[in-house]
Amino acid sequence: MLKVGIIGCGGISNSHMSGYLQLKDRVEVVACCDIDEPKAKEYAARYGIKNYYNNCYDMLKAEQLDLVSVTTWNSAHAECTIAALNAGCSVICEKPMAMSAAEAEAMKETADRNGKLLMLGFVRRHGNDAYAARELVKNGELGEIYYAQAKYLRRCGFPGGWFGDKSRSGGGPLIDLGVHVIDLVRYIMGCPKPVSVFGATFDKLGSRPGIRTTEWVSETVVEQPIFNVEDLAVAMIRFDNGAVLNLEASFNLNLPDNEDGIRLFGSKAGISLASPFALYTEYNGQLADIALKGQNNFDFHRDFDREIKNFVDAAEGKAECLAPAEDGVELMRILDAVYESARIGKSVEIKR
Ligand SMILES: NC(=O)c1ccc[n+]([C@@H]2O[C@H](COP(=O)([O-])OP(=O)(O)OC[C@H]3O[C@@H](n4cnc5c(N)ncnc54)[C@H](O)[C@@H]3O)[C@@H](O)[C@H]2O)c1
Repeated sequence: MLKVGIIGCGGISNSHMSGYLQLKDRVEVVACCDIDEPKAKEYAARYGIKNYYNNCYDMLKAEQLDLVSVTTWNSAHAECTIAALNAGCSVICEKPMAMSAAEAEAMKETADRNGKLLMLGFVRRHGNDAYAARELVKNGELGEIYYAQAKYLRRCGFPGGWFGDKSRSGGGPLIDLGVHVIDLVRYIMGCPKPVSVFGATFDKLGSRPGIRTTEWVSETVVEQPIFNVEDLAVAMIRFDNGAVLNLEASFNLNLPDNEDGIRLFGSKAGISLASPFALYTEYNGQLADIALKGQNNFDFHRDFDREIKNFVDAAEGKAECLAPAEDGVELMRILDAVYESARIGKSVEIKR
């Protein structure tokens, strides 16, 4: 039986717990920690976890853990991941990997040095839409993919808590939402390397404190609401295969409805991962749209369970890790470049 520890007992850790509970015959969550000790205590009681701690160092020292989930706010990802890897654990770290590419590189280097698995919480890679798209690309159905669009636009969807505090989040919708769709496009394309970025960020609407929202809300309660991040980020990202990705991500934007979708355009066909999953091509001398039958969607609960299963399988050497650390590092290089480009008002080359 593999022993699991959770670092950070907030909202998304429940999705990791759900995945571990599906694998009760193989893993046991034996410890959890949170710098908010009452939260760790309540979490341990809720799930019947034997021990709880108020910091990861005491937990890692006292427990002989095999697997760790890092589900803290972003600024603690690097520190907690490095501590767990150095304690001999395999780690799944939530997205975004870190606050910067430099931190992400240090995390990967620690995993490599210890010979341990470091997986990223790129949950969208585990959706049926990602599987279907990867399959189409692998079979050459799209031809050469040369352009993609990725949108994660919320009309009013600032998650509150620490998400607007740059010192804990590292940024706004780009690092929180954009990361999902940039990664998914890159994954479907076959993980080309980013070479240059033009980005722009805005803070025109802020957090919109007076408007109610039904979006994801951080469980972290803050006394003083903080919002010193962007509310909209846009970018053009060029990859080493010549393809370009156009990205848009917002917490707040004056548009009719939320828009969350990915489209990839190839020389033979285009695909849209927004519901319904469709292929745009030509057939018998006419333009033709092909709607795929079946559940070609992303399902939050199902796909978190799949992600955790892939983590456990990969840690045991029974499966290939679908979201390895190197892809987290590439993603952080893109995010750094978007913020830098927005700051200087010019394109930025990604050097490695
Ligand atoms: N994959 C997804 O779809 C998805 C969805 C939501 C959040 N997330 C990611 O999950 C992470 C957590 O988000 P959340 O919404 O659960 O936040 P949350 O505010 O609900 O919980 C974060 C918890 O981490 C704790 N924490 C902070 N620093 C710590 C440290 N050094 N040691 C131990 N505990 C610490 C906080 O006290 C808090 O309880 C973020 O990185 C976020 O980007 C991913």
